[in-house]
Amino acid sequence: MPGVREGRPAARAVLLSVLVVVAASSWSPSAEGGRTVAATADGYYTRVASPDGHNSVAFILADGKPLYAVDRDGEVVVAESRLGLRFLAQPALDGSFSVTACQQTDHDETWRPVWGTDAEIRNHYRELTVSLVEDEPPHRKLELVFRAYDDGIAFRYRLPEQAALDSFLIVSELTRFCFPANHRTWSIPANFDSYEFLYRELFLDELDAANTPITLATAGGLYLSLHEADLTDYAGMTLAAIRDQPWTLECDLVPWPDGAKVRGRTPLRTPWRTIQIADRPGGLVESHLIQNCNEPCRLADTSWIQPAKYLGIWWGMHIRKETWHQGDSHGATTENTKRHIDFAAAHGIPALLIEGWNLGWEKWGSAGAFDFTTPYDDFDLPAVADYARQRSVAIIGHHESGGDVPGYEAQMADAFALYERLGITRVKTGYAGGIHPRGQHHHGQWMVNHYRRVVECAARHRVMLDVHEPIKPTGISRTWPNMMTREGVRGMEYNAWSEGNPPEHTTIVPFTRMLAGPLDYTPGIFDLTFDRYRPNNRVYTTLAKQLALFVVLYSPLQMAADLPENYDGHPAFSFVEVVPVDWDESRVLEGAIGDYVGIARRSGRSWFVGWVTDEEARTVTMPLDFLDADTRYLATIYRDAPDAHWQTDPQAYEIVERDFRHGDRYEASLAAGGGQALWIRPE
Ligand code: NOJ
Ligand code: CA
Repeated sequence: MPGVREGRPAARAVLLSVLVVVAASSWSPSAEGGRTVAATADGYYTRVASPDGHNSVAFILADGKPLYAVDRDGEVVVAESRLGLRFLAQPALDGSFSVTACQQTDHDETWRPVWGTDAEIRNHYRELTVSLVEDEPPHRKLELVFRAYDDGIAFRYRLPEQAALDSFLIVSELTRFCFPANHRTWSIPANFDSYEFLYRELFLDELDAANTPITLATAGGLYLSLHEADLTDYAGMTLAAIRDQPWTLECDLVPWPDGAKVRGRTPLRTPWRTIQIADRPGGLVESHLIQNCNEPCRLADTSWIQPAKYLGIWWGMHIRKETWHQGDSHGATTENTKRHIDFAAAHGIPALLIEGWNLGWEKWGSAGAFDFTTPYDDFDLPAVADYARQRSVAIIGHHESGGDVPGYEAQMADAFALYERLGITRVKTGYAGGIHPRGQHHHGQWMVNHYRRVVECAARHRVMLDVHEPIKPTGISRTWPNMMTREGVRGMEYNAWSEGNPPEHTTIVPFTRMLAGPLDYTPGIFDLTFDRYRPNNRVYTTLAKQLALFVVLYSPLQMAADLPENYDGHPAFSFVEVVPVDWDESRVLEGAIGDYVGIARRSGRSWFVGWVTDEEARTVTMPLDFLDADTRYLATIYRDAPDAHWQTDPQAYEIVERDFRHGDRYEASLAAGGGQALWIRPE
């Protein structure tokens, strides 16, 4: 077999098919069930196929260099792409290797998440582990683990414990994703500290660098998304375009202040590099590949973990009606908090976030600014906790660190213990500002480890988390289900004080950021222009679209973000009252990335459906084939009024009732920047 070199994609695609033929005929030691292994003195080829046989990932050793390639039904998804690691002060681990062992296993389990978009998740894959040893001294060992799922593939590096490789600094991970054509992509920039950006639609040859998830569409109709799973004790991955190789992205890890990427020792396993693959955009959203590439739940008792909707003392600060710090317009006063608790109790909203309750907001951003256990003196924390408990409203506590991680670490155990004593079991954390010590990044290994320490500390105090300015979700909520939701998205707050989020934003987010995990976008603004407070800012949707976002954007802690006075007496608030935050089943009905999407979610026998569109008005036809046959359903429909338009008449909506039956078709008219929310239950 000739040595395989990375060349132009077209050449590689041909070479791959030659390899398969050669492997199956002249010297194949085994070729069964979609698995093929072949070896000669200077090369090695093996592949593993998904249970349904459509996706396969190949491992290739060419001139001793490790490569991988992915195909779906024989079509190249990722052409042969480089693998390897570079270290400081020792040679790169990228060949020349020999294969010492190659093992395949099958895996099929069904697990029940503590909360989520589906009550049951099947984790069904075939796994290939390739063990490599360097041909030259010191004969370091490397293992590559590949998984083929029906909804994509994943792979990770494993560095076994070995005398020749003890502790090390990784300076770069050489993983590449070499695509065979100039695909369309949707991504945010590769920022090391923030994911709060608008999405860019670019062809691969226009792309410079991106954070993950990055979603791609091929000319042949496949949808792909690159991300990572089980990001543990490692740096976050961004992707950079390679100039000398077309349509190729390379892993670019977020650095430490000294430029190193990962400080590690053996045994070490990297996060999974994941490629979700689907025939339609909605297939990516329905995939559970990221969660499946994580460890099972570590908590013996999860009975204290409960999804919830919540109101907040929050939007008032963002639109400058109130302040976080103490003063004439302080939001978190005892009296104002009781008013919010009363409203939540009256409307069955189970939780209330309280921001700006503790000392330090006037020094936000400086070292040691925040005191996480001392309330402002106009906020009686025990009295408020008591008042809330009596009315069955849960308080969501708040820890804004301003990026001062040492300050937070020093106090967090006491801070969680205080909340635990008061019966406060949910906490929102925040890292708004540059990380202390300076030079560390939000998405680097040091912060990945900090965020995890907080999850574990919170779990010891039976606290559920909502993290703002987080590390991106990589499925660790499977292992730590108290890690409920997080920001890591350009959310509603941007409409309060920036040029805002254009109507198309929330038609891209479900197919990009939401593939990674739940998001605390904070939907539900009813006063869309809030002229009284900030006449130059507004929300770029209709009111009906705000309701639809409760279904479209999944979060087990889902905020109804507006002020109580904007909900009070508003007929459309009835949808917010009834919409669940935990689901038995979820289906993407239809969608085009950046244009529109419709998602149906089931809770018990009731279905909730959300449709959202970009700046284009459109009518969508919804076949009601997800309903049970022989059941009469009543649908309450919250829709844009005929004259609604995000710009000129965002508030115009109507509520109508319809009888629905399996097999019917329903036409939903969406205004420009509009949407529709449906509550469908058996009569
Ligand atoms: C930014 C967060 O995204 C927002 O939700 C919060 O209110 C502020 N930081 C203050 O903590
Ligand atoms: Ca933020």
